Amino acid sequence: MTIKDVKAYELLDSRGNPTVGVRLTTENGDFWALTPSGASAGSHEALELRDTGPRYGGKGVGTAVKNVNTLIAKRILGMDETQQAELDGALLELDGTKSKDALGANAVLPVSMAAAVAAAAAQRIPLYQHLGRLYGFSNGANAVLPVPMCNVINGGKHAGQDNDIQEHMIVPVGAKSYSEAIRMVAESYHELQAELKRRFGPQGILIGDEGGFAPQIPTVQERLDLVVKAYEEAGYRDEMRLAIDSASSEFFADGTYHIGAKSYSSGELVDFYDELTKAYPIVSLEDGMAEDDWDGWTELMAKIGSRVQIVGDDLLVTNPERIEMAVAKKAVNSVLIKLNQIGSLTETLQAVRLSHKSGFSTVISHRSGETEDRFIADLAVGVRAGQVKFGAPARTDRNAKYNRLLVIEDGLGSAAKYPGAGFRDLR
Ligand code: PGA
Ligand code: ZN
Repeated sequence: MTIKDVKAYELLDSRGNPTVGVRLTTENGDFWALTPSGASAGSHEALELRDTGPRYGGKGVGTAVKNVNTLIAKRILGMDETQQAELDGALLELDGTKSKDALGANAVLPVSMAAAVAAAAAQRIPLYQHLGRLYGFSNGANAVLPVPMCNVINGGKHAGQDNDIQEHMIVPVGAKSYSEAIRMVAESYHELQAELKRRFGPQGILIGDEGGFAPQIPTVQERLDLVVKAYEEAGYRDEMRLAIDSASSEFFADGTYHIGAKSYSSGELVDFYDELTKAYPIVSLEDGMAEDDWDGWTELMAKIGSRVQIVGDDLLVTNPERIEMAVAKKAVNSVLIKLNQIGSLTETLQAVRLSHKSGFSTVISHRSGETEDRFIADLAVGVRAGQVKFGAPARTDRNAKYNRLLVIEDGLGSAAKYPGAGFRDLR
């Protein structure tokens, strides 16, 4: 159980931007991991190292690739891939900064992930089981499939818009199994497609970065009306609920929130969400407030946190220190988990553990720039998150993850559990 070789490649992500892919070799073969990339990234995230200069419009990752092939390779060749904490510890020490400013989180993370993939193979167990063990579960405790939150209307930066709510998701809480949930979602997605085509013609069914439709519909209420109509047409009025990711840091400027032509103070925006979540069956609201508007978050939690899941993404950036702040300020009751926000598997597992210990639910999430990598599907099952957010049930960068969960569910057989409406109560 020895890392014999590690090699990074400059590959392309789902938006056509360069990203780092790593091949890690042990006596058991070659193991891969690819890094995703955000568009509405939080300013407190670990550093995504991009080259400057004309190549790829300044978005090349040649330096991150070189860091893996030289500095990181030199440090980790000969190490044991099954000792994740030791390996990640060596990478963090080698980097030596708080935000992975020296090596780049996009250099450290794929090495960290590929080691876990190799470690699962070394033990001849599925990746989700290995990740469950690293998290702290003994064997067999991690047979919970997640409830998918599927982004069927893309807005904001993912659809070339400014001052706009980013994600309008459907949540199949009434399904009996994960596979039934995926079918409900796909059928609803196609009902929505048909309705958008009827109303807006071919322009209405163009899609955004996460595979959801990106129609020119100005208000969040009109968008949600169409989404509700679509899942009702599909026959799932009782089974389906809604979720929103505002990504509000993107429309926060000079202390004011701007949605379309309207402006809101922090308190006015909280009232807006209060009304919206009473008018629509919304079970989850992510990044309702901006990444440093802690008072706004606390107010939002106090007002609607008892009936809606309040998820911190850009606010918390999968960072245990910021999750501790959220505990102290009563700012959230749920944490979005993205590996590349913090930049190593060990730190990500710490963030999940701390969240669960604090009574927060967790949602394992993709980025808007994705790849064929499906590690996060196994992560969701391994840590028993109970919820994932992988975009629309369309485009292979999204469905690589949803499909991996279908295969995991099949492999678990009758042991597979789907939490349904209890998706927040697993811990
Ligand atoms: P990002 O968006 O990957 O572009 O940051 C996803 C999200 O905000 O959840
Ligand atoms: Zn988000």
